[in-house]
Formats: sequence, C-alpha cells, structure tokens
Amino acid sequence: MNPAPVVFNNTVLRDGHQSLAATRMSTAQMLPAAPLLDSLGFGGLETWGGATIDASLRYLGENPFDRLRALKAAAPNTPHIMLLRGQNIVQYTSFPDDVVEAFVRCSAAAGCDVFRVFDALNDARNLGTAIRAVRAAGRTARGEICYTASPVHTLDRFVAFGEELAALGCHTLGIKDMSGILAPAVAAELVRRLKARTGLPVVVHSHDTAGFAAAAYYAAIEAGADAVETSIQPFADGTAQPDTQRMLSLLEHHPRCPHYDRERLLELRRHFEKVYAELGSFTSHANERTDPDVPVYQIPGGMISNFRTQLRELGMANRLDEVLVEIPHVRRCLGWIPLVTPTSQIVGTQAMLNVKFGRWKNFAPAAMDIALGKYGRTPGPIDPEVLRVAMERTKETPMEGRAADRLAPRMDTLRAELRTKGLPADDETAVLYAMFPQQVLDLHAGRKPAAPAPAPAGAAAKPATPAKRFRITLGAHRRDAIVEEVD
Ligand code: CO
Repeated sequence: MNPAPVVFNNTVLRDGHQSLAATRMSTAQMLPAAPLLDSLGFGGLETWGGATIDASLRYLGENPFDRLRALKAAAPNTPHIMLLRGQNIVQYTSFPDDVVEAFVRCSAAAGCDVFRVFDALNDARNLGTAIRAVRAAGRTARGEICYTASPVHTLDRFVAFGEELAALGCHTLGIKDMSGILAPAVAAELVRRLKARTGLPVVVHSHDTAGFAAAAYYAAIEAGADAVETSIQPFADGTAQPDTQRMLSLLEHHPRCPHYDRERLLELRRHFEKVYAELGSFTSHANERTDPDVPVYQIPGGMISNFRTQLRELGMANRLDEVLVEIPHVRRCLGWIPLVTPTSQIVGTQAMLNVKFGRWKNFAPAAMDIALGKYGRTPGPIDPEVLRVAMERTKETPMEGRAADRLAPRMDTLRAELRTKGLPADDETAVLYAMFPQQVLDLHAGRKPAAPAPAPAGAAAKPATPAKRFRITLGAHRRDAIVEEVD
C-alpha cells in the first residue's frame, strides 16, 4: 500500500459553488477565505475554469483573469488548479490551436499551476494541444479520464486511455466522476491498474450526488490513490465533493489519514455558511440531498434537477420519467458518449426533443454534430439509422480526423477585431473574446450583466440551478432553456 498520507485538494472555490450555487460565488466572497485555505496545506486549490469563467463574465461582471490573480496573491503557497475542457477551452465547441495555446499561456501567467485537462468524449486527439501548451508553460498537466458507465466502457478501456494521456506527457492522472457513479470497488480497481500501468500519481475527483463519493474515495485511498478532492460545507456533499471534515472523520485511524487543522476548517465553514446564505436564490434542496436516481439512470444529478425546471417551462412537467428513460437511448445512438459539459446538455436536449416530437424527428444541430464526428471519436459506433438521418439533413458526411485541424488560426483576427472596437488587443482579452464576445464587450463598456433567468411562473420560487440560457429548437418556435454545466 502507498504509505504516505493521502493528499486533499480543495474545490470549494470552483466545483463546490459550480455544483451547488450555479457558479455564482464572487471574488469578493472568496477572498476572505483565501489566506485560511492557503494555510491548511492542501495539495491544491481548485479556483478557476469549468463554468467559473463564463459565470464571472455573464452574471457577475468580473474579469476572470483578475479573479485568478487576486486569488493567487491571497493564496500564494498552494498550487492553483483549473479545469480545462481541452480543445473547447471553457466553452462548448472546438477552438483553433493558437487560441487554446494562448489561453493556457495567459492562465499560467495569471497564476494557474495545475491544469485538469479533459475531453467529453475521452478523445485524446482533443487534448494534445492543451497538454503540450501546459508543458510548454512549465505547469502541471493532469489528464482527466471522464468516468461513465455503458456497455462499451470497460475498465480496460479507461486504463488504455490513461496510458494515452501518459504518452501525451501528462504529469498526473485524474479519474473524473462528474456524475458521482463511481462505485468503491471500481474506484479501487481503476486506481490500482492506472498506477501500475503508467506509474503516474492518480487523483480521484467525484461528486457525492448519489451519496457514495466518500466511500469511493476511501476505497481509492486503500488502493493507493495519491490525492482526492474535497470541498467545504455547505458548498460540499450533494452534487459537489464530499466535505473535508467528513472525509477526515471517515479516515480516522486509517494509516493514510492526513492532517488538516480542524479549527481552521471550522472557521472556513463559518465563512462559507454566510456566503451560502447570500447565494440563497441559486441554491436548491434538490442538489443538497442524496439522489438515488443517479446510479439508476447514470446521469449527473444536476441534470435531473435541471430537467424538472426545463420540462416545467415546456409544459411537460409530467414527462420526466419518459425523458429519463430516453437518455440511455440517445446515448446509445450517439455512441455512448459520457455525460459532461457539453455532451450532457446535448444528450439532455435531444432526449426531451425525442419525447416531445418522437425519436429523432427533431434532431438538435449539436446532436447531429456528435453523430457526424465533429466533437471527436465517440466511444461506440453511431446508430446507422441516426447517422443516415444526420447525413441527410446536413448533406454532410462523417468527419475523419481532429475537429480543430479544420480550424484556421484566429488570434490575429481576434486582435484586429478588438482594435476595431477600441478594446485592448492583448492575449487575455482576445482569448476571452473568442469564447464570450458579447460579455467581453459588456465588461469593457462597464455594462452590468443582464439579470439571471427569472423563475418560471408557479415554480418553487426559483429554477433549480440556473446556469445559463441556451437555445433549443422546438418545432416551429425557439425558446430559451436553462441548462446546467456539469463538470
Ligand atoms: Co467536478
């Protein structure tokens, strides 16, 4: 057994509030906690990436790079971790290599030390550019294996993907269980085999959605996992990571139990309880409780609560069960893709369209893109009939090779465009502008972000987890639907 105490990374400033408070924690709410978090000796602090960059621009009117710099200055002794969606950076679609490279350079310069790089399809071709850029910046590349369960996902396959990540130059590996469905025995086996095959340190990142992340961590620690990721109550447990104190208690008398100062942890909890209350309009009981449906339907808990809101908006509140049953069908037809941003949104939308209009009658454009290989190689084959429909409607043939190979460099164009608009044309502004043009314009014009999505009439006070508005096509009319980012 690995004799060293297990290391905890803390996620409260990123995944904790992304999972439980719609990513709405502001820099001002984070900063008072930063020195305390820094003093505890965590292996790393996840402070950036995922949905936080989008949310800080879209809802908080904050420059996300300024946030990273401020947090780095307030917590300089602990490595800062970010979650990077590979070629999608922190958006939903592929970006050219030069934009990915510039983004990584800027993030490293602003204070990011560890990059958790993942691809929703576990297609290594979508990760190479980001991993090389992280290495070139002299930072740590953590290759993430998106865990999911399906008839084509075997442990052999996850281990083989881990070997691909190692070959690409990752310094560490992460098992990324965004749905919280990683059973303890599976976690142990996966950790053992990944360590044996690659020799790299392995970090386990799970969500307590179904109530067994802490058990999975325990089993992974027994099997030699080097680190696990925990958060701080009340931004912990439920759809977020297990609470640090809880995990410490669980490991009592275990030879690998680490030491983290409980008094200071309590002090942190008091601070975050105050913040949680301030964010009350973005939290929901559905995300705090243990959800037994998650392992049954194999979909992230956030997605289920999100469906309830969306279906209510579409006048389909009584059809949740049908949609949940439809999800495995959509996943099978689309090659059993894992459910994580952006595929979770795409599969969820398509399942609703199938229930409302009949299977594949209304084919969402993004789902067609998956069928046509534009997001990468799917784990299993695309259903032949679904592929035929996608080809017929788009008049396109399935794509071979890497999506980003078809994208021309964009940094020069972006800089030129910013100059025309009288905005700073530095790399930071350019990479943000590539992903969130309107929000960057608003930020520089000093315009306040638009108010968050209003609660649907008659709903229980607020949307379950409002995250962002995105359009889905429903027959003749379009309307906004609230979607949740799951990563
Ligand atoms: Co996560």
